[in-house]
Amino acid sequence: MNEYDSDRIRNALEAQTTDNPEKADIIIVNTCAIRDKADQKAFSSLGKYKHLKRDNPDLIVGISGCVAQLYGDKLLHKMPHLDFVLGPRAIPRLPDLIKKIENGKHRAVETSYDVQELFDIEPYHAEGKVTAFVSVQQGCNKRCSYCIVPRVRGDEVNRPLGDILREAKSLVDKGVREVTFIGQTVNSWKENGYKFGDLLRAAADVDNLERIRFTTSYPRDITAKMIEAVKDVPKISRHIHLPVQSGSNAVLGKMKRTYTREWYSDIVKRLRDAAPGMAISTDIIVGYPGETERDFMDTMSLLEEIEFESAFSFKFSPRPGTPAAARPSDETVEDSEASRRLSLLQAFQRDVTTKKNRARVGYIEEVLAEGISKNDPEILTGRTSHNRITHFKGSAALSGKMLKVRITEGLFNSLRGELSV
Ligand code: 5AD
Repeated sequence: MNEYDSDRIRNALEAQTTDNPEKADIIIVNTCAIRDKADQKAFSSLGKYKHLKRDNPDLIVGISGCVAQLYGDKLLHKMPHLDFVLGPRAIPRLPDLIKKIENGKHRAVETSYDVQELFDIEPYHAEGKVTAFVSVQQGCNKRCSYCIVPRVRGDEVNRPLGDILREAKSLVDKGVREVTFIGQTVNSWKENGYKFGDLLRAAADVDNLERIRFTTSYPRDITAKMIEAVKDVPKISRHIHLPVQSGSNAVLGKMKRTYTREWYSDIVKRLRDAAPGMAISTDIIVGYPGETERDFMDTMSLLEEIEFESAFSFKFSPRPGTPAAARPSDETVEDSEASRRLSLLQAFQRDVTTKKNRARVGYIEEVLAEGISKNDPEILTGRTSHNRITHFKGSAALSGKMLKVRITEGLFNSLRGELSV
């Protein structure tokens, strides 16, 4: 999501980028507020530009994204070298904002939610890219008790089907072969009577689009129609990112996730029945207020039961204004205990992921080649439909092609293989 917004910012300004901050006319730190570390990171990277502003008063320094939205004009007080604060929904307003700053030299805050032209700015597109994001939704209507997203990105707004398809087609014309639909709860997308399953099917009809991905799915919004679409349309990737957050019903209840562990397992079963071998990845939070050892063990047993292809796991981080942050202090799980749980969980999942990757050895996989590996010009990198990164010997000319690759090795993060003829 943030990568996508950074590319939109680049397009909004029609700007060239530079890796050297000393050469920049404008520096924008695009931020994430999902966990505490993410906003600390934003403040420390902004701090690094203080001296550049001192040496060059014409330099414009701004903060964008969810941390900008969260703290608004407080940031201008906190950081005197900052020229503007821009919320994630206000990116289309950026060009005007910069003009105003250049003309009047006054500092500005733009954090309103009611930006009409929400989807108008599409992201910068680098030539030769094989895979691209397409935003289908902004904001979120769920109210998970730990999550700051609804506060910083506002309520759910869905993009019209026609606009999504037009963007997908124009990307294909530029050489893209795979799109990833993105939204906070992407599968809750609906518009004018159409549901997410309809969107998947319509996208599958776009000529020369080889594969469709989507992220992030909300378990309760998975419908029979969506499962049918996945089953019927091979272009839809055999991977779903489906955050479960916890394996304990007590914790799921407190988190306001609106499903039980059993319900989640059933959805996974239905997905795997519809598309055998369907890869399921997830997000987990450990150390939620009041999480007992028993609750944590329930999460571990869920990981064992489901055998996720991969899991992103985090220690609970209290976010300002969320119900979870207001829990009484006697419910706090000690940081050392949360760290212990996180390490146990990650070690367990590491073995599962590696085992699943090793199990691919000997199979021929369809890999969409995305380009030459960063580390070795003779090696191509791509992904399988199940979202496994795969490296194999091949030339740059094969980039953008769907190739048959025989898997020779399965590692934790990737597969290795050779082109099969
Ligand atoms: N603390 C820890 N993890 C969080 N996430 C969201 N909010 C929090 C929080 N307050 C995690 C969830 C979500 C992922 C994007 O970040 O697991 O799915």
